[in-house]
Amino acid sequence: MAKTKVLWSCSECGHTQTKWTGSCSMCQNWNTFVEEIELPQAQRFEAASEKAAQPMRIREIKEVQFKRLQTGINEFDRLMGGGIVAGSLTLVGGDPGIGKSTLLMQLSQSLASQGLTVLYICGEESVEQTSLRAQRIGVNSENLYLLSETNYSRIKHHIDSLKPDILIVDSIQIVYKQDLTSAPGSVSQVREITTEFMHIAKGMGISTFLIGHVTKTGDIAGPRVLEHLVDTVLDFDGDRQHGYRMLRGIKNRFGPTDDIAIFQMSGSGLIEVRNPSSIFLEERAKKTSGSAIVPTLEGSRAFLTEIQALVAPSAFSNAQRKSTGLNPNRLSLLLAVLEKRMNFQLHNKDVFVSVAGGLKIVEPAIDLAILMAIASSFSNRVLDPKTVVMGEVGLSGEVRSIPRIESRLKEALNMGFTTCILPARNLKALSKALREELTLQGIEYIDEALKTLK
Ligand code: TYD
Ligand code: MG
Repeated sequence: MAKTKVLWSCSECGHTQTKWTGSCSMCQNWNTFVEEIELPQAQRFEAASEKAAQPMRIREIKEVQFKRLQTGINEFDRLMGGGIVAGSLTLVGGDPGIGKSTLLMQLSQSLASQGLTVLYICGEESVEQTSLRAQRIGVNSENLYLLSETNYSRIKHHIDSLKPDILIVDSIQIVYKQDLTSAPGSVSQVREITTEFMHIAKGMGISTFLIGHVTKTGDIAGPRVLEHLVDTVLDFDGDRQHGYRMLRGIKNRFGPTDDIAIFQMSGSGLIEVRNPSSIFLEERAKKTSGSAIVPTLEGSRAFLTEIQALVAPSAFSNAQRKSTGLNPNRLSLLLAVLEKRMNFQLHNKDVFVSVAGGLKIVEPAIDLAILMAIASSFSNRVLDPKTVVMGEVGLSGEVRSIPRIESRLKEALNMGFTTCILPARNLKALSKALREELTLQGIEYIDEALKTLK
């Protein structure tokens, strides 16, 4: 028998080396090396050599139409690119308690009620616990099977005999292979197990969902390697206090990425939110300073959200700048623009900015809204409550054009807004209908926007 070798592998990036060191030379993290056993070569490549492939001319390859399974949860189907592709492997990550098990249980129910056989591996909880949850969300399908098992070879045995259409593994960190000496959840276990499930998904045409835990830094536990192995990575996040959750497509071989689906956690499971603007604007105070509404894009969808700012005199010599839901560097930049270009005295003021509802927004199109919210709070003047603001702000205070302006304006119109402050460059491209329905104010420089505060 071939000799097994001891390797040290970084739990953050998956880099392996033969010696232990304090920090990883690839990702520079400290104390991340864990001991792994490398499997003998023969065992590792057995799957790859099963079928020898031949080079083919790209023109001779027949176009295949992927068979997709509709789940009936519209938002989820949209996120996946129009349903679940048969034989695909999906990783669902998220913080503990965010609702991963709940979502996949609901998914199982709607797929099972279509007559598909669903096998739900609930290694983390007992069958009783899982069925308690199932009762809570009204799951009762005959085709849904629960299996409380963590040993991979026994799971494989049940898959072979049941031949399910859909397989759900809750969670990948808890399943282990006996012939690997490292603990369940360790890098090599997770990698091996995921590879095995990939072969099952592709080989048997079973659409497989793996639930993965998220580490403190927000990555899906185990190395990034895992994300390369799967077809689709969905990240479930949100503010637990608010009760609504965002499912985000990070990687998708069969559909759009950076798209989101929004759900609300209720007493009987997750409910999809068809109109996100309404929940993010729900608690808005209309006549206070420091608030601006911005139409933002997440993937293909536009919705309105509120940016709030509070500028207050600082008690300390170095003023605080705090933000939630947006990039702190972007905030510093916008504050510098306000100080330098508009002569705002902000150096002795604490500035707090947040995106209402626990959303995280990265696109620069919200710059102008952040800037106006800060200016509004600073000068105690209010932005008209029926106005939305959008635009990217450059270093010299110019307002730059932003993409997909029409979808943003349509959403503003749908939500009953009448006026829009937008980059002048974007005005030209707009359709006549939109120009007639909304009062559009195109601006080139930030001072024009700040003049509208009353
Ligand atoms: P869960 O799906 O177990 O989260 P995860 O698998 O991501 O760890 O449950 C998330 C939380 O949601 C849990 O604290 C209980 C709550 N919950 C509801 O509010 N309503 C429900 O119908 C269910 C099933 C759970
Ligand atoms: Mg769970």
